[in-house]
Amino acid sequence: MKTYKIALIKGDGIGPEIIDEAVKVLDAVASCCNFDFSYEEALMGGCAYDATGDPLPQETITISLNSDAVLFGAIGGEKWDKLPREKRPESGLLRFRKELGVYANLRPAVVYDELVNASSLKPEIVRGVDLMVVRELIGGIYFGEPKGRDENRGWNTMVYTRPEIERIAHQAFKIAMTRSKRVCSIDKANVLDVSQLWRDVVTEIAQQYPEVELSHMYVDNAAMQLIRDPKQFDVMLTGNIFGDILSDEASMLSGSIGLLPSASVGAKIGVYEPIHGSAPDIAGQGIANPIATISSASMMLRYALGETAAADKIDAAVKRALKEGYRTQDLAKFDAKEVCSTSEMGSIIANYVAKCKH
Ligand code: IPM
Ligand code: MG
Repeated sequence: MKTYKIALIKGDGIGPEIIDEAVKVLDAVASCCNFDFSYEEALMGGCAYDATGDPLPQETITISLNSDAVLFGAIGGEKWDKLPREKRPESGLLRFRKELGVYANLRPAVVYDELVNASSLKPEIVRGVDLMVVRELIGGIYFGEPKGRDENRGWNTMVYTRPEIERIAHQAFKIAMTRSKRVCSIDKANVLDVSQLWRDVVTEIAQQYPEVELSHMYVDNAAMQLIRDPKQFDVMLTGNIFGDILSDEASMLSGSIGLLPSASVGAKIGVYEPIHGSAPDIAGQGIANPIATISSASMMLRYALGETAAADKIDAAVKRALKEGYRTQDLAKFDAKEVCSTSEMGSIIANYVAKCKH
């Protein structure tokens, strides 16, 4: 029987609770799909700093690189906000992405029919939304040099090179080929030189994908269009910071940031994580929504392990739980038949997975 090695990075805040539920669901799907998982836990973020003085211990990188995929919870919290920048949990995460070379961050935003009333937008605007933000993850202003600050100035540099743009553009076009074959590339080419290069290179790469329709949009307009008419989008291709902002915005179309998964992929090992943060304010209360993490585990099966049938089972089980009216706190107001805890939601989904015919 095939055994996949999964590195588990639970992290801080609600991280451990939501990862435990994803593991429950993964074990259920493994036993009905005839493969197995072996898990190895590794520390990152505030808990890693507390234990070792480093938010990203070398051991965590080693464990991750020796695995088939990384399942990641969330990191950070007020407790560590006062530390010098390089000791902060977020710095560990950025270094981790860089070390693993995960340059493409895939963030789908899907609106479940059962939850159209949960969105802050009108149901007719969001019903049927199914878009994917393809965000460049290890370049741009997050990593550009020079950067620094003194008493009176702070500075960062937004820089992209041609190869960096080419590889993320290829990813976006390839993904679009499996979807509705439309890519909207987001930039600020009316103001930024880096964006003019971005636009030129994306346009060049598009020639290799004649079936895909390419459009360009300025980021400010894109922020508006996402709220005005989100259904116009299929794949949104963005640089690092624009994608950070727009993917949070896109997540609200679905009603709760607790629903949306992500995959970060590159040449080596992929990292699968919910797009939300560690939510220290609700940690340990058993009220976090584990669905974003469970769906991230499904993306892991699909993209990293090629276990499409297993991923489909998880997606179907999540839909079924929502359809049956099970809701965690964040969605309690929206057509809930039963409000359940983090671990109850995990068990319900795991149960549906186990019952699903194969
Ligand atoms: C995200 C987060 C991170 C980012 C932070 C925690 C460094 O907001 O994954 O979107 O900005 O990339
Ligand atoms: Mg973000």
